[in-house]
Amino acid sequence: MAQLTLPKHSKVREGHNHPSSPGMKRPRTFTVYRFDPDSKENPRRDRFTIDLDECGPMVLDALIKIKGDIDSTLTFRRSCREGICGSCAMNIDGRNTLACISAIDDIEGDISVHPLPHLPVIKDLVPDLNHFYAQYASTKPWLRSQTPPPPGRERRQSIEDREKLDGLYECILCACCSTSCPSYWWNGDRYLGPASLLQSYRWLVDSRDEETGERLDDLEDSFRLYRCHTIMNCATVCPKGLNPAKAIAEIKKMMIKRSL
Ligand code: SF4
Ligand code: F3S
Ligand code: FES
Repeated sequence: MAQLTLPKHSKVREGHNHPSSPGMKRPRTFTVYRFDPDSKENPRRDRFTIDLDECGPMVLDALIKIKGDIDSTLTFRRSCREGICGSCAMNIDGRNTLACISAIDDIEGDISVHPLPHLPVIKDLVPDLNHFYAQYASTKPWLRSQTPPPPGRERRQSIEDREKLDGLYECILCACCSTSCPSYWWNGDRYLGPASLLQSYRWLVDSRDEETGERLDDLEDSFRLYRCHTIMNCATVCPKGLNPAKAIAEIKKMMIKRSL
């Protein structure tokens, strides 16, 4: 991929103002981070005031309204609009979350919208997630088993073993947790971060997987796993209500157990 131009976040300037117009019944202002890598200019914050009576209830609806009616160059990711695909992850009112399930009425005052923090920005609200996904891929997140499945049927689990995956399989890889983690901000080149570690644990506890030892070997590293310092932002922000910090603690317990 071509080298990205990194925006100078410390030099974000005030940008265009699109004020309310007469006749708006429920005006609401959104302050939106803008960065265009082709312009050679520092990022800016644009202000858009829209009428909530003509807009859906979620922050993503507002962004779609702004793009449709005011500025078609506004760039952001979205797909499912129901909190399943993870693509609309961004920082809203100072918190990483999914725009499609963030109700405008739950936020007071002007609503600030930024890309997920501490990632290179491709354009506006679109961060570069290549490294994040490469880290996930490095954990080999698929069933690794030498034993073939029973003839004519799938590999089965007991109800108890299946329940061990609850709270893990629901992860949609939105990156809200990893990009809220200070350890990941400072050491994201080597620390796997909460999302990839939660996904690692999902395979470590899968009763059908036969490479638990190899998976632990891959994580036995002062950076990949042990840069988690229990800061807990990950569990606070996860829009799916998951707890990556707990999954990381469980991996550490597995490491201790096998060393005894
Ligand atoms: Fe997103 Fe939660 Fe998965 Fe982290 S654990 S990537 S916040 S769904
Ligand atoms: Fe970071 Fe969560 Fe650990 S915020 S330091 S991964 S507990
Ligand atoms: Fe899919 Fe928001 S658009 S999670």
